[in-house]
Amino acid sequence: MPTTILAKRRLIPGKTSELVLDAPHIAAKAQPGNFLILRVNDHGERIPLTIADADPEKGTVTIVYLVLGKSTALLETLEAGDAILDVCGPLGAPTHIEKTGVVICVGGGTGIAAMHHIAKGHARAGNHVVAVIGARTKELLLFHDELSAFCHEVLVTTDDGSMGRKGLVTETLRDRLAADPTVSEVVAVGPVPMMRAVAETTRPFGVKTTVSLNSIMVDGIGMCGACRVTVGGQIRFACVDGPEFDGHQVDFGELCARLGAFRDQERVSLEKFHECRCHDHKKA
Ligand SMILES: Cc1cc2nc3c(=O)[nH]c(=O)nc-3n(C[C@H](O)[C@H](O)[C@H](O)COP(=O)(O)OP(=O)(O)OC[C@H]3O[C@@H](n4cnc5c(N)ncnc54)[C@H](O)[C@@H]3O)c2cc1C
Ligand code: FES
Repeated sequence: MPTTILAKRRLIPGKTSELVLDAPHIAAKAQPGNFLILRVNDHGERIPLTIADADPEKGTVTIVYLVLGKSTALLETLEAGDAILDVCGPLGAPTHIEKTGVVICVGGGTGIAAMHHIAKGHARAGNHVVAVIGARTKELLLFHDELSAFCHEVLVTTDDGSMGRKGLVTETLRDRLAADPTVSEVVAVGPVPMMRAVAETTRPFGVKTTVSLNSIMVDGIGMCGACRVTVGGQIRFACVDGPEFDGHQVDFGELCARLGAFRDQERVSLEKFHECRCHDHKKA
């Protein structure tokens, strides 16, 4: 159903924005780990985006997206007061959350915002939540203040050392794990190479590691097979069996290959979108 954008925040101008949507039916049911699928207009593709936050009392859900290709570029043309044609959710299996002790939530890039709802769920369950967040530079680091509001520790890394420790999230994660044998789980959300590196970092420690897979999705309800991933040698559908899986069991090589399957078409689509915007950007 058409869904109104109540607020838009340009987190990284032109690259990443946050939208607060008027979606009481989704907000009432949304749990950490859920996502939604939206279609901007009747020419648009269906794209999955994580529910970064939900407020059942206000009837709102928050999404944060990286402007990557045609659909996210089209979404970026919308402003507060505009409507998105279809928003479907909440979808996916919610994060398994129980009180287990110390949980480290690792987020990279836009994945930091997606990880935020999961970290909040663990904090509400009474876990000691450590957020390990990283970006190339300070200006690209998302949700530091939001995570600081409820996480017990927020450990920052930047590639250039402009904020926090210079280096990658995996180096901070390794040190934190080495210093604390009580960590019960590590959750990672971010680019596939980052989640793969997190899984390899935690493997020698034998700590449960959950990753949120961003495979290509179409229907989001387990019918089309587009989101097929291999986990522990078995075929799973990320939209209904996930998107969260045991990071030590995921076939990341296959996931990378499938994510790149339509790269040529995506490039052409984005080029045509920019050409069409000269005529009427909201109908591109
Ligand atoms: C469960 C889930 C949650 C996600 N949450 C977020 C989020 O919170 N914020 C965010 O910025 N991104 C998120 N993504 C990724 C987001 O869906 C893609 O970036 C988006 O679909 C790109 O569309 P595009 O047309 O702009 O780019 P395109 O040029 O079409 O594609 C760019 C790349 O995005 C990926 N992609 C393309 N279409 C899809 C699709 N239908 N489903 C999944 N991936 C696709 C492919 O790797 C592709 O190479 C999530 C993906 C999944 C599966
Ligand atoms: S998106 Fe179609 S089966 Fe998962």
